[in-house]
Amino acid sequence: MTQTSNSHAAKVIAVTVAAAVGGFLFGFDSSVINGAVDSIQGEFGLSSFVTGFAVAIALLGCAVGAWFAGRLADRWGRKRVMVLGSVLFVISSVGSGLAFSVPDLMLWRVLGGLGIGIASVIAPTYISEIAPARYRGSLASLQQLAITLGIFAALLSDAVLQNAAGGASNELWWGLEAWRWMFLVGVVPAIVYGVLAVLIPESPRFLVGKDLDEEAAEILANITGELHPHERVREIRLTLRREEKRSFGDIRGPVFGLQPLVWVGITMAVFQQFVGINAIFYYSTTLWKSVGFTENESFTTSVITAVINVVMTFVAILFVDRIGRRPLLMAGSIGMFVSLLLAAIAFSQATGTGEDVQLPAPWGALALIGANVFVIFFAATWGPIMWVMLGEMFPNRMRAVALGISTAANWIANFTVTLAFPPLTSAVGLWFLYGLFAFFALLSFFFVKSKIRETKGMELEDMRI
Ligand code: GLC
Repeated sequence: MTQTSNSHAAKVIAVTVAAAVGGFLFGFDSSVINGAVDSIQGEFGLSSFVTGFAVAIALLGCAVGAWFAGRLADRWGRKRVMVLGSVLFVISSVGSGLAFSVPDLMLWRVLGGLGIGIASVIAPTYISEIAPARYRGSLASLQQLAITLGIFAALLSDAVLQNAAGGASNELWWGLEAWRWMFLVGVVPAIVYGVLAVLIPESPRFLVGKDLDEEAAEILANITGELHPHERVREIRLTLRREEKRSFGDIRGPVFGLQPLVWVGITMAVFQQFVGINAIFYYSTTLWKSVGFTENESFTTSVITAVINVVMTFVAILFVDRIGRRPLLMAGSIGMFVSLLLAAIAFSQATGTGEDVQLPAPWGALALIGANVFVIFFAATWGPIMWVMLGEMFPNRMRAVALGISTAANWIANFTVTLAFPPLTSAVGLWFLYGLFAFFALLSFFFVKSKIRETKGMELEDMRI
């Protein structure tokens, strides 16, 4: 039982927002390169393949960061891992901004990727562990809100810096080109994140695991307004003990070495990427140019899409704890399927190949509408709710590790789509790829229907494998 006085609500929201700043950095650092990429290609004389690889390699760093974040979080605590993430973000922003060669830049981007991977695991872990069950979905959705704000901020900050210098390759301040400043400004949110991570309380579920019951009870009472904190601590302890009997069998199990529930997490994470969301966010300019838009129109469209992405997250924030996770995910799957299919049909009317793809009217408009309706459905459902569910669906003992593994799968799937999208666009055409994304959206519906259990309102202590 929790009491929800205003002061407790304010405290929970404050610590959630602090943890969600990691989401902002996730969004910012993963998309900031978009504005810099052409200048980097020009400055270092790269082929488009090497450029694509330089962009995508950070995503592998994300996968590695996510993989280790769960284990580290169980050893060091959630807060210390957040601080580690913040340090990596600072190093990567400075290093990328001052890079003098391509391998150098890649190294800093991979380090930044480690930070992103860490942030993407630690925010859902921490938020779901500190939030009262009744509001957990809304609070955990704030991470995705922060991600979408980070993507939006990177788009704007890149554009402002580019305009200030009259071109991303032109010098701006201190003899450094605008594209370098695009990375350097990332230092500010990274430091804010580190400072906030030091200030927030440790996760009570982690503390109980370390036998710090009194501290845990105090945090439960003070922050979440738990009426019977000692009882809750006893329950947490019970779940830890019950699961301890299985030792590391926490995650190990009969299905290819893992528990079925871990596979559910992995599959959900992969579906969230295989519907092609980042093919839109990472390659929006190319996409809209193919619809016949000018450079400026493409940029405006990208801004509109990014705003839709932010605003629609509020649908999840408002409804995830009322309607529940499953119905929202299933509605999202259907909406994404239909809109992606429309986009695929529109792209099938394209003329020309490669960079010169053009869509005659009215197909351009249909592609534009299809892609944005897809973003509406994704942002309201699968975007936030996948993160909400990964944060809460695993039992206490395996949460951080299982979340780390599922999130690593999310990043590997992201890497695969990001790397494969440009060459496959030329090889098989946009219509085929969008058809494939639509197919995955349809599959995701049946997956949710048959494999996902509702977790709305449940205590973390009641999650079972
Ligand atoms: C989700 C996805 C991420 C994507 C973002 C777009 O957080 O996991 O890959 O970039 O949504 O808003």
